[in-house]
Amino acid sequence: MPALVVIGSQWGDEGKGKIVDYLADEADVVVRFQGGNNAGHSVKIGEELFALHLVPSGILRPGKMAVIGNGVVIDPGVLLEELDNLQKRGISVDNLRISDRANVIMPYHKMLDGAEERMRAGAKVGTTGRGIGPSYSDKVARLGIRMCDLVDERALHEKLEFLVPLKQKILDAYGDATRLDLESICREHSDYGRRLVKYVIDTGPVITDALTAKKKVLFEGAQGSMLDIDHGTYPFVTSSQTVAGNAASGSGVSPLCLDEVFGVVKAYTTRVGSGPFPSELTDTIGQRIAEKGGEFGTTTGRARRCGWLDLVVTKYTAALNGYTGIAMTKIDVLGGLDELRVCTHYTFDGVKVTTIPADLRVLERCKPEYFSLKGWDDMEPARTERVLAEGFSALPSRMRKYIRFVEKQMGVRVVLLGLGRRRNEILDLRRKRW
Ligand code: GDP
Ligand code: IMO
Ligand code: MG
Repeated sequence: MPALVVIGSQWGDEGKGKIVDYLADEADVVVRFQGGNNAGHSVKIGEELFALHLVPSGILRPGKMAVIGNGVVIDPGVLLEELDNLQKRGISVDNLRISDRANVIMPYHKMLDGAEERMRAGAKVGTTGRGIGPSYSDKVARLGIRMCDLVDERALHEKLEFLVPLKQKILDAYGDATRLDLESICREHSDYGRRLVKYVIDTGPVITDALTAKKKVLFEGAQGSMLDIDHGTYPFVTSSQTVAGNAASGSGVSPLCLDEVFGVVKAYTTRVGSGPFPSELTDTIGQRIAEKGGEFGTTTGRARRCGWLDLVVTKYTAALNGYTGIAMTKIDVLGGLDELRVCTHYTFDGVKVTTIPADLRVLERCKPEYFSLKGWDDMEPARTERVLAEGFSALPSRMRKYIRFVEKQMGVRVVLLGLGRRRNEILDLRRKRW
């Protein structure tokens, strides 16, 4: 199984960064295939915390190739800052490769992200404000600037001559007072291009060659399946396809290459920004989970909304992604609660609902129905150590029941279990390694 895709099964922030960092130890290549710096993937190594936004989490493992694929949208200033920070902390970025086809987030995309949100008044998406939506919109409208343009000053200038006046008109119409200056945007971005050019290549063939040579390639999803532009809670979604199918298209390899898909399932549910969230907890239990789980955005610092695990969501995304294994994270956060609830289905006007309706007016009126399980006590660090040494059977029996319940409902085995924030706090239940 040389190609493994890691996908967020909920609304993002499931702990993909930590899972990818763990699996990257066994991989040769780690690829980001969609999203941009709306992503925030935290990895804690010992006492050191890394927050990655554009660079694949595999960069933290020396010697691995890290690829930013064609499906990603790149803010070049943010990327350079991220690379500088990594290097300052002793992380080599020599093995980074950036697709020449990836689209660039331009300054006007960030302005338009803000302006569009303001126009939405009562129906704000609650975007990260990083220009993600406008950049993907331009890509689809064939108005994008790609990395191959960024590294070619003349091509960049030519494109901007057309784009800057066009974007100025839109900003004016939105009542945004910003004046765009073609020459300064071109200068700044040509400079970014000069600094990034050494990493920019046609990455698809590089990944395909690695796969042909039986090297192990790990695809790192960003956001979550419920934020997918097609399958998520539209319009409260991001602007890319976050599902496993896009791992191939977003990195330029054949879909037949993809062998395994791990769904990262947080043991409860969180969501940042607006949109329906049937199992949301607005009481003290929700607050307690938020505090204990440190549920504050890695990118924007916003408080994440918390709720019970919703199996309607995870089963829906299992069907979309074809999970061959579950990486369950943050189960430690649920310790110390008397009762745990798991949403098994919804009811709408008394009728049972087992999937996610397209119409959010319906979803908003769906009432979550819960199965109740008994909670377990917090595990002391020594107990966690023992579990990591002895395995599944050393877990509290009620925690095992919780895990088995989720596995049975989803029809997929838990292959990795997160028991804490640190790199080593993960119980590996795979029958065989990569
Ligand atoms: P991502 O966007 O999916 O990579 O997730 P984030 O990094 O934004 O958010 C997940 C947070 O949970 C981070 O702060 C991680 O360090 C932390 N985390 C990941 N796995 C675990 C776990 O098993 N237990 C605990 N307590 N924290 C975890
Ligand atoms: P990671 O990779 C959680 C959410 C935003 C907003 C919506 C649209 O860390 O899991 P956008 O800026 O993408 O146009 O915002 O999507 N969102 C995320 N929520 N984790 C993320 O990434 C997210 N990326 C975007 O909060 O609701
Ligand atoms: Mg995150």
